[in-house]
This record gives sequence, structure tokens and C-alpha cells, in this order.
Amino acid sequence: MTIRRDNFQAIQTLLAEQTQNELSDDKDYLVETRLAPVASTYGFPSVDALIDRLRGTPDRQLLRTAIEALLIHETFFFRDPATFQYLEETVLPRLCQARLASRSLSIWSAACSSGQEAYSIAISLADRMPHVVAGWNVRLVGTDASSAMIARARLGTYSPLEISRGPFADRVLRHTREELGEYGLSDSLRKMIDFREWNLTGGPLFGQWDIVFLRNVLIYFPEEFRRSLMTRLHRCLSPDGVLIVGASETAQLQADLFQPLDPACHTCLSPK
Ligand SMILES: C[S@@+](CC[C@H](N)C(=O)[O-])C[C@H]1O[C@@H](n2cnc3c(N)ncnc32)[C@H](O)[C@@H]1O
Repeated sequence: MTIRRDNFQAIQTLLAEQTQNELSDDKDYLVETRLAPVASTYGFPSVDALIDRLRGTPDRQLLRTAIEALLIHETFFFRDPATFQYLEETVLPRLCQARLASRSLSIWSAACSSGQEAYSIAISLADRMPHVVAGWNVRLVGTDASSAMIARARLGTYSPLEISRGPFADRVLRHTREELGEYGLSDSLRKMIDFREWNLTGGPLFGQWDIVFLRNVLIYFPEEFRRSLMTRLHRCLSPDGVLIVGASETAQLQADLFQPLDPACHTCLSPK
């Protein structure tokens, strides 16, 4: 079973228009497998019939559900542990020292999927900077284009497999309690994070940021959009702020805008 070529191309265009995500020409199997459950839920006899509808009368909710089903949400707690180690040992202590007068810190996890990245940041703060969590004004925001992922992130409940996949499962577990075979993160951790839907096609979130996590999402964007997003991020990052990207994304960054903070950590960048 394969979808019609014109329908595959229509989905490539819709996905790019809505999220800037690129879908390579060989990904028809992905469209087929991801959209089959959507077609079935909405009563379409086939994926082609669903796409025909998406191409015809626009139905915002249906379009949104289909687009969200096509995004890649792969994530886990403390993904890229070397980056988190550098965050805890160097970035956070240095920024906290620099913010002693204002006692405020702002951190944005900009494509946080189901929340594990933002909760990992919260755990880093709670474990290594408890005085900051207790007494400072910490703005920690997690955003994603997918409403389903943000709903999951707000819930803050994960399966044993999701907990054990990450490198520091014992640290995550210490901040959870068991809830009917799943693990719910503590209320104090949940309260630290403001989860919101936010599509990066709309640009950076309002405000000035000390640290922005933009990891494992740049790879899906075309060069032109990457450049405009990085330019806008550069403007909303504090001059001594840090942009943190995915381990495989450093080659895709603009050397005129950002530079590695330290040869020891190539995923942590400072604005030029
Ligand atoms: C592969 S996950 C990465 C999650 C996390 N940052 C990590 O590194 O583990 C990519 C996330 O980017 C989100 N995403 C894709 N395009 C987006 C856009 N235009 N705006 C906001 N989020 C987007 C997807 O919904 C997905 O949850």
C-alpha cells in the first residue's frame, strides 16, 4: 500500500508551510504509517482520502492533528549527558554568579517534545543549585509545536521505560513517585516549568533568555529558515547567555553569530 505521489508532495508542502520541517522524497512510508491512525480515527477509508481532504476544504483541527502526527518527537531524560554535565559544572555556576544582583535566571527549552528535556534542566537546577530554586526568580519555559506533546509534558508522568532510557535514571527517579505503574514527577518540579505550545515559525518566545535549548530540531529545518531562526535567537539571548544545540547539529550553525563557549563542549555556544 503506497500513497499517491501527488498526495505525498502535497504533504511535503503542508508540513513545510506549517512547521518548516523538511520531508525527504523517500519518506512516503513515514507519511503512510503516521497518517494511517489519523485516517482511521477521523473515518477516512484510506490515507489518500485523508490527504485529499487536507488538500481541499481546510479543516484546522484535522490539519493540525495530521501535521503533529508527522513530527519526530524522539527524546529522553538527560539526552547528551556530556552537555548536561557541562551545564551543571560550568554554565549554571557561571551564570548564577553573574546574576547575583538580580537573582533571576531564564531558561527556554524551545522544542521540548514530551517534556523530558525541560524536566532534566529542572532536575539539574534542583540537584546542583537548590538555593537558586528556593530563592531566585527562575523562569523555565518548555515549548513545542505539538499540542499533544505539551499536554504530555504538563502531565509529567512517564513509563518505567521512558525513565530508564536516559543516562541518569536514578537521579530522575529520586524526583518521582509511583502512580499506577508509571512515574509522576514531583509537584515542586512540575511547578518550576511553564509548558506552552509554540511554533518556531513564529520566531522566538517573547523576552530575553539566559539559556536556550534548541536541540535535535534544527536538523529538520531548511538552511534558510535555520539562518533566520538563529538570527532572531541571537537577538533574544543575553550577551553572556548560552545557546545549547544537539550533538549532531553544531555543523549547521552560523559561525558569524555563535561560537563554542569552550573547546571542551561543542554543543554550548555563546553569541558573538
Ligand atoms: C526530535 S524532538 C527533540 C526534543 C528535545 N529537544 C530533545 O533533544 O530530546 C523535536 C521536537 O521539535 C518539535 N518541532 C518540530 N518543528 C517545530 C517547530 N516549527 N516549532 C516548534 N517545535 C517544533 C517536534 O514537535 C518535536 O517534539
